This record gives sequence, structure tokens and C-alpha cells, in this order.
Amino acid sequence: MRLRLLPDNPEIGWTPLAYLIYLGFFYFDPFLGAPYDLADWVRQIVATVVFLALFFRGFWVRGRRLVPIIVAIVLLGAWAVTFNTGGGVFFIYAAGFLGELGPPRVGLVGVGGILIAVVTCTVLFDLHPGTWIPAAVFTTIIGGINIHYAQVNRRNARLRLAQEEIERLAKADERDRIARDLHDLLGHTLSVITLKSQLAARLMEGAGGGGERGANTAPDRHDRALHEVREVERISREALSEVRRAVLGFRSLKIGIELAKARMALETAGIGVDLETSPYDLHADAESVLALALREAVTNVVRHSRATTCSIRLRQHKGSVELTVEDDGRGARGATGSGLSGMRERVEATGGLLEIGDGERRGTRLRVVVPGQAGPPVGPAALRATSP
Ligand SMILES: Nc1ncnc2c1ncn2[C@@H]1O[C@H](COP(=O)(O)OP(=O)(O)OP(=O)(O)O)[C@@H](O)[C@H]1O
Ligand SMILES: [Mg+2]
Repeated sequence: MRLRLLPDNPEIGWTPLAYLIYLGFFYFDPFLGAPYDLADWVRQIVATVVFLALFFRGFWVRGRRLVPIIVAIVLLGAWAVTFNTGGGVFFIYAAGFLGELGPPRVGLVGVGGILIAVVTCTVLFDLHPGTWIPAAVFTTIIGGINIHYAQVNRRNARLRLAQEEIERLAKADERDRIARDLHDLLGHTLSVITLKSQLAARLMEGAGGGGERGANTAPDRHDRALHEVREVERISREALSEVRRAVLGFRSLKIGIELAKARMALETAGIGVDLETSPYDLHADAESVLALALREAVTNVVRHSRATTCSIRLRQHKGSVELTVEDDGRGARGATGSGLSGMRERVEATGGLLEIGDGERRGTRLRVVVPGQAGPPVGPAALRATSP
């Protein structure tokens, strides 16, 4: 069995090995300080070996299970400072693990605990300021930084999970929609096709049997059968294209999902979100265009605006649907890039309209109007007249 020092975690990678450089402080005394006798060297080596075991173990556990490791490293430090002025480095290593202990307040209690240990050792062993000052200062700084970043990492992981969940729900929703569409579509069409084929078969049998008098003569039956077969062909062609449309709809973007993603992106960037939507009635194509516009507008707010709040409104008007994204940031000054020009092209291809200008509270206001599903197609002039 191969001994693995570190877990396979890309977020940690090889960095713990680099942290070992600080162990150099523990070796100043033997190499640069007072003469070291054999007993000193034995203590030095024992402390180093015990520390390395605890240090590497610390990357395999988190939460409560880290407590004994942190405590052991602190005790090791308390012992090391009695014979080595660089022994204070162990307190700092212990503080480095506090981020993974749990929520920030737990980590901060840990910083407090280690500082108490440093003060106690200083009093008990009358430590040199060159030992206790760096120990206290770097315990606080390294502990604080690691607690902060561990919290950021946890939040990002939660965000990733939430985003995956939204994608998963969206896919499940799409599958349901496809199942529903196919069921409604094919259930109806296939029964019509069955009925019409049965009818055609009966008519053909009758026509083959020599025919009857009156309206039901053989040629007459033959013509009706032919008519039914052509109907079957037409209906199955239509069904085929409807099935294609139902399945292709799978690729279309949904406003609801983009709104959820937008909220998450803005909140992650620390921008307050004010969302107001109403039920809307859109073709899948127009919905995709509007969803893409929302995505780009929100990306721009996050990237360029430096806003503190962003409001998103989705309103249904007569014959059109309007989306406005307004922020209270520094306002759009830069030249139009491919984001906005692509958005304009797509919106105008639907017969819609895009406006970008100053917001009411400084900032930028982006307004997109696309034709709704109900009513005749609406040209840009008519859309412009759509007042909010
Ligand atoms: N909400 C906003 N607040 C401030 N500036 C903005 C905002 N939206 C757009 N801008 C400005 O408009 C410019 C053009 O935006 P556009 O989306 O077209 O390009 P981009 O975001 O720079 O690049 P990309 O092609 O990747 O989208 C931006 O570079 C930015 O200066
Ligand atoms: Mg952009």
C-alpha cells in the first residue's frame, strides 16, 4: 500500500508542501543559534516528526475531528518554545487549520484559544518577545485569513450545488414537458392514423370484392380509400414535424431558469436584487432571445456596473413582452461590445426592440421588448409605442 500524505483534493493540491517552508524558523536555533547538544537534537527531531504526522493528518479531516489535531499541535508548540525560540511557529500552523473547523465563529473561538495558549506559555516560560510576538501576530493573521477563505470556498461550493440543482430541475422539467407534448401529440395522432388506416383497409377490401350498387361502387370505394391513405400520410408528416419541434424545444432557454440564475449571480457579486415578474406568453424562440438578453445584461451588470442594486422587471403587454434590467452603478460608457450587439441582432430578428440608456438612479437601464405569442407580429414601431 502506498502511503499518501495528502488527499486528492484539487483545491488543496500541493500547497501544504509549500507551507512546510515556515518550519525553517524552527531550525534557526540549531543551525544559527546557541550550540545544540544531543538531547536538544533528539527533542528537535521528535518535535519535527510528531508535527509532520499531525500536519499531514490535518488535511484528511475537517470539523470536530480537527480539534484533537489542532490541540496536539498547540501542545507541541507549548513544549517546543521551552527549548527553541522558533517553536512558536507551531501555534501558527495550528491556526492555519482553524478555517476547516466549522463556521467562522468556531474558527474565531479557536484563534482565541491559541492566543490564550501563547500568553500562558509566555507567562510560564518567560518567553522572549522574538518568540511570542510573531506567534501571537501570525496566529491572528493566518487564522483570520484561512477562516475567511474557508468560508468563501464553502459558499462557492453551496452556490455550485444550487446551480447544479437548478440545471437538474430544469432538465427534469424539460423531460416532463417533452413527455407531455409527445403524449398529447402522438396519443391523438396515432389514434386518428389507426382509425383512418382501418377505414382505408375496409374500403379496399370492399373495392376488391367486386363492389356494390349505388354510391358504394368499387371505383368509388377505391377513391375514398385513396383519400384516407393520403390523409394518413399528411397526418403522419405533420406529426413528424411536431415531434421534431417538441424535441428541439429541449434546447430552448427558459426565462424562469435564467431569472433564478440571474438572482444567484447578482447576489454572489454582492448586488441586491429586486425582481418583479408577471406571467408571460411567448413563442419558444422569443423566450430564448429574451432569456439570452437577460443573461448578457446581468453579466454586464456584474462585470461592469459596480452597482449595489439591480432591478429586473418582466412585464406582459398587449402583443409584447418587456424586460428591463436597471442598475444603480456607474453607467455604461464603454463602446458596444459583442455582447450588446449580438443581443440587438437577436432581438431585432424577432421583430423586437432593444434600448440601452441611463437609469433613473444613475446606472444603466436596458430595455428589451419582444413580440408576444398572442396577436399579430408587432413591428419595431409598434413596440416602441409600448410604454411601460
Ligand atoms: N450595466 C452596465 N454598467 C456599466 N457599464 C456597462 C453595463 N453594461 C454594459 N456596459 C458597458 O458597455 C460595454 C459594452 O458591453 P458589451 O456587453 O457589449 O461588451 P462587454 O461586456 O465589454 O464584452 P462581451 O462581448 O464579453 O459582452 C461594456 O464594456 C461596458 O463598458
Ligand atoms: Mg457583455
